[in-house]
Amino acid sequence: MRRKLVAGNWKMNGVRASLGELDAIAAMVAEGVDVAVAVPFTLIAAAAERVPGLGIGAQDVHHADAGAHTGCVSAAQAGDAGARFTIVGHSERRADCNETDTIVRAKAKAARRHGLDVILCVGETLAERDAGQAVSVVTAQLAGSLPEGAAGDWLSVAYEPVWAIGTGRTPTVADVAAMHGAVRAELRRLSGEEAARVRVLYGGSVTADNAAALIGASDVDGALVGGASLTAAKFVPIIAAAAAL
Ligand code: PGA
Repeated sequence: MRRKLVAGNWKMNGVRASLGELDAIAAMVAEGVDVAVAVPFTLIAAAAERVPGLGIGAQDVHHADAGAHTGCVSAAQAGDAGARFTIVGHSERRADCNETDTIVRAKAKAARRHGLDVILCVGETLAERDAGQAVSVVTAQLAGSLPEGAAGDWLSVAYEPVWAIGTGRTPTVADVAAMHGAVRAELRRLSGEEAARVRVLYGGSVTADNAAALIGASDVDGALVGGASLTAAKFVPIIAAAAAL
């Protein structure tokens, strides 16, 4: 049985005054689901100190361990600040920062080298879905960016259709189940039996209203939540929905 994981992604939102939101979110850790929040780099240390029971993470790390990469943050530095995990391959970084599958895989490996858990994101654009290519695009991204030796105790996959992120649109539950089945099958091809232990999260416009249906879909092991993770009022009901499944 895979334990559910509900992870927040604050993106480029939040300052120290926002950290109070984490108090009520941290209280949900007792509810039998794993709860995590990827905060901006600037808040990792303060968040990890404030809510030690909550999994605080980064939204990205550089693939190198150290060196001349102005403005970047390494996995070692994120971990030193208190991060326990990092997101890699988010579609906003794939698009904004031209991150390829090869780079995403290198980031996942760097995170693992430095003891961080990983949430590896994949997802198709609307044009790709309309062209009937959603499954082939997503499984190719997974094959290209999953690190060797990926195991369920440190890596989760997040399926996030690009067209569902921040738009209020979501795929149908049937479409989510179908894609998660395809992701699971690709994981099995790539990682054999370990695939049964890797959590596959759904992400894209998850709210309190749709969380139970989406997280309850077959082969869905939790959610990666952007906008609705910014306040406890919106995020706690999503965690509660996952805990009730
Ligand atoms: P959203 O973002 O919940 O605001 O759609 C999800 C994500 O990008 O992880």
